[in-house]
Amino acid sequence: MGMLAELFVILLFVFTAFGQYNYNYYSDHDYDPEPDDDYPPAYHFNPNTQYDIPHVPYATDCARECFCPPAFPLSMLCDNRKLKTIPYIPAHIQQLHLQFNNIEAVTAKAFINSTNLREINLSHNKLMSNMIDDGVFAKLPHLAQLYLHHNNLEEIPSPLPNTIERLFLGFNKISRLQHNVMQGLVNMTMLDLCNNHLDDSAVKGKAFSKLKSLMQLNLCNNKLLSMPPDLPSSLMYLSLENNSISAIPENYFNKLPYIHAIRMSYNSLQEVPLNAFNVANLVELSLGHNKLKQVFQVPKSLEHLYLQDNELEIINVTLLCPAIDPMNSNRLTYLRVEKNKLKAPISTLAFLCFPHIQSIYYGEQKGKDAQIPILPQFPMPHDHDEEEEEERGAWPVIHEEDDEEDEHGGTDHDDFDPYPY
Ligand SMILES: *[C@@H]1O[C@H](CO)[C@@H](O)[C@H](O)[C@H]1NC(C)=O
Ligand SMILES: *[C@@H]1O[C@H](CO)[C@@H](O)[C@H](O)[C@H]1NC(C)=O
Ligand SMILES: *[C@@H]1O[C@H](CO)[C@@H](O)[C@H](O)[C@H]1NC(C)=O
Ligand SMILES: *[C@@H]1O[C@H](CO)[C@@H](O)[C@H](O)[C@H]1NC(C)=O
Ligand SMILES: *[C@@H]1O[C@H](CO)[C@@H](O)[C@H](O)[C@H]1NC(C)=O
Repeated sequence: MGMLAELFVILLFVFTAFGQYNYNYYSDHDYDPEPDDDYPPAYHFNPNTQYDIPHVPYATDCARECFCPPAFPLSMLCDNRKLKTIPYIPAHIQQLHLQFNNIEAVTAKAFINSTNLREINLSHNKLMSNMIDDGVFAKLPHLAQLYLHHNNLEEIPSPLPNTIERLFLGFNKISRLQHNVMQGLVNMTMLDLCNNHLDDSAVKGKAFSKLKSLMQLNLCNNKLLSMPPDLPSSLMYLSLENNSISAIPENYFNKLPYIHAIRMSYNSLQEVPLNAFNVANLVELSLGHNKLKQVFQVPKSLEHLYLQDNELEIINVTLLCPAIDPMNSNRLTYLRVEKNKLKAPISTLAFLCFPHIQSIYYGEQKGKDAQIPILPQFPMPHDHDEEEEEERGAWPVIHEEDDEEDEHGGTDHDDFDPYPY
């Protein structure tokens, strides 16, 4: 429980630090302790909202299929109404909720007067690329958030307005990115393309490099065999889980100086360059469910390292930690190594290298001669808060039981989720 509590504290920190990007639409599958607390309400007060629009009788100016809540005069709610077409949109509306309908087409006419729209939620519909009029969204001069996940799109609607900040395209059938589709989208901070059909050829040729403000890029559950090239240097969160990536080029992450979290579980990595992750701001690295045979250098900033379900036979501390510098020690607190082929406990040197370690999740190992290791004895640190110690037991805590059952593919990416959708 102590571990969960810690994770939660870290979650809180991450969510506080990046509070404005804390939206997560994968909530159904999440394992977060309290994810709901971090979600904005369905129609939230937007500080950018301008209330100085000439007075119109809002209560009556509403599509008859929809609901315009008096308390949120700039929102129109039309979700879950079996709609097949986009209803009439009064000109003052800024937030439009059309999720969970049967809409296939987006015509230019539908949005002709909706020049105040900031946010459109068309997720969970039946949108088809060939039924979206060219540039229909580009004509909306204030559009910042566009939710198009769970549709039947084969490509990204284009052009998009350069005001766009967050674009959700997960769970579609996108297999190509049109040339220059990202051109001019200088304010885009979040792009979600998980659960599509993207392969290496789709993301080649500077597809993302023009997104100068991009902080989060999600490409999980696609068909990539290699790392996407030319990512913008502003990136902080990168999700590439569940592709078939087999290698990380030398110096790949040096071009991403702000990178904070890298998620690459469920890929085909066998080895990575020793210094692949030596970037100054990396806090979370998840490489579970790959084929790694060897560890690599752990950057000082890293706090959470996930290496479970790989092919490690030994954790070579010399490789993890080539130099031990007590004045500037590694910040690692959490390490998962269960389901590898480890035959011996992790060398006690690891605790010199990682003085802040709180949990090593050793679990069960794979292979015939796998055995539960005998834990080495560690001196108890005396500068520890007693209460904390009591809660966690001896320090460091080494978990032997794999009590977190991997259901439908794994909890590693679910139980610690700084991914602020
Ligand atoms: C757009 O506004 C014009 C002028 O107010 C109005 O005549 C027209 O019906 C509106 N069109 C739509 C699709 O709302
Ligand atoms: C958009 O629709 C999703 C359902 O797909 C819903 O969970 C979410 O609250 C909506 N988001 C916004 C910002 O309206
Ligand atoms: C991008 O965002 C900045 C700051 O909010 C704003 O001043 C600028 O006009 C935006 N650019 C576009 C193209 O929307
Ligand atoms: C650990 O790695 C170092 C550096 O490559 C190597 O010299 C050493 O032999 C390795 N130790 C073990 C036990 O494999
Ligand atoms: C990986 O992605 C495929 C689709 O590309 C999906 O069917 C599968 O469930 C995903 N696996 C995990 C572990 O997420």
